[in-house]
Amino acid sequence: MVNSMKFAPFKIVNFFRQHEFSAPYGISQSDSEPLTLDELLTYASPERHRQFETLWLGYTETQGHPELRRAIANMHDGIDARDVIEVVPEEGVFLPMNSLLSAGDHVVAMQPSFQSLWEIARATGCELSFWQQRRTEDGWHFDVDELERLIRPDTRMLIINFPHNPSGYLPSRADFERVLELARRQNLILFSDEIYRFTEHDAGLRLPSACELYERAIVLGGLSKCFGLPGLRVGWLITRDAGLSHELQEMKSYTTICGSAPSEILALIALENREALCARSIDIVRANIDVCRKFFGRYPDLFWIAYPQCGTITLVELAADMPVGDFAAAALREAGVMVLPAEIMLFEGNYFRLGLGRRSLPQALERLEPVISNCFARPGTKV
Ligand SMILES: Cc1ncc(COP(=O)(O)O)c(C=O)c1O
Repeated sequence: MVNSMKFAPFKIVNFFRQHEFSAPYGISQSDSEPLTLDELLTYASPERHRQFETLWLGYTETQGHPELRRAIANMHDGIDARDVIEVVPEEGVFLPMNSLLSAGDHVVAMQPSFQSLWEIARATGCELSFWQQRRTEDGWHFDVDELERLIRPDTRMLIINFPHNPSGYLPSRADFERVLELARRQNLILFSDEIYRFTEHDAGLRLPSACELYERAIVLGGLSKCFGLPGLRVGWLITRDAGLSHELQEMKSYTTICGSAPSEILALIALENREALCARSIDIVRANIDVCRKFFGRYPDLFWIAYPQCGTITLVELAADMPVGDFAAAALREAGVMVLPAEIMLFEGNYFRLGLGRRSLPQALERLEPVISNCFARPGTKV
């Protein structure tokens, strides 16, 4: 099946490949401030520290380190370690879509969303219907009535991503349960990308994980966002459906086979200190939101922004005649600041993605100030 697939270029990954390590500043990264290795090790118990230093660098267990799977399971209600498969996060997008979909299947996915969350289905030859993000006075919204109209008798998979990249949108618990009910009604495979889970600015907002509520859910989680550890390349798939789990593991034999031994122990250290690491990230996001309110508040007619209740990202509208792509190019050229235009995420409209997780965001915004003055003759007014 893989050989017959032709993927379109992964625009956002290509954009980051081009600019992430050459631009001195950025305001669009989606992760929380990454930790250094020695910083993470300060959280380790003496036993884990020793385990890390004396680690045997052989192959690891294909489904993932048993202790790590247990730690992941323990973060979820009613989930057992055998329901968990350790993956590289992006691999966790590829496996369910590649192993469980065939040409002609009908799939419902969100728009906009991380490109692989629908591109793999498209390249497989699936028929796609898109659940569209809507802008309201309060911010962003996905309407469950619209979703209901998109699901057909022959729909095979529903793909969701809450908290949502790029808007940071989190549905109400009632809406989330309705989505799961729609999946249950037709026994759909529900692929729920929850990689931004645990970034809720108030823990009371956290939704249950789809795998806790629905047997045919496959959940993707990982350490790349709220934990500030994207370089570990550790994520997980969870499903209580043994048949689906078997298919995923069969396909994993053709992708990474097993995880990285050092990353597994570092991931265990992270999960054993989950509360502290998430609090660290959320503190940074909160401080950055304060800075952004002041910064963007100076240009009320130039930028529209709905601050998210969770997540590390949101969309900002540039309410000017200038295409956001030109503004992003000027930011890079004149100030060395990487700005991700939303069109790279195939989202129409004059928006860019704002990343709230990095400590350097205030400095990056400072550098943007003269670019704004240069681009817009009278800042604060509609140009
Ligand atoms: C919604 C979503 N899912 C999956 C991933 C993949 O995570 P990683 O880049 O760590 O492989 C990302 C990365 O940005 C993402 O935004």
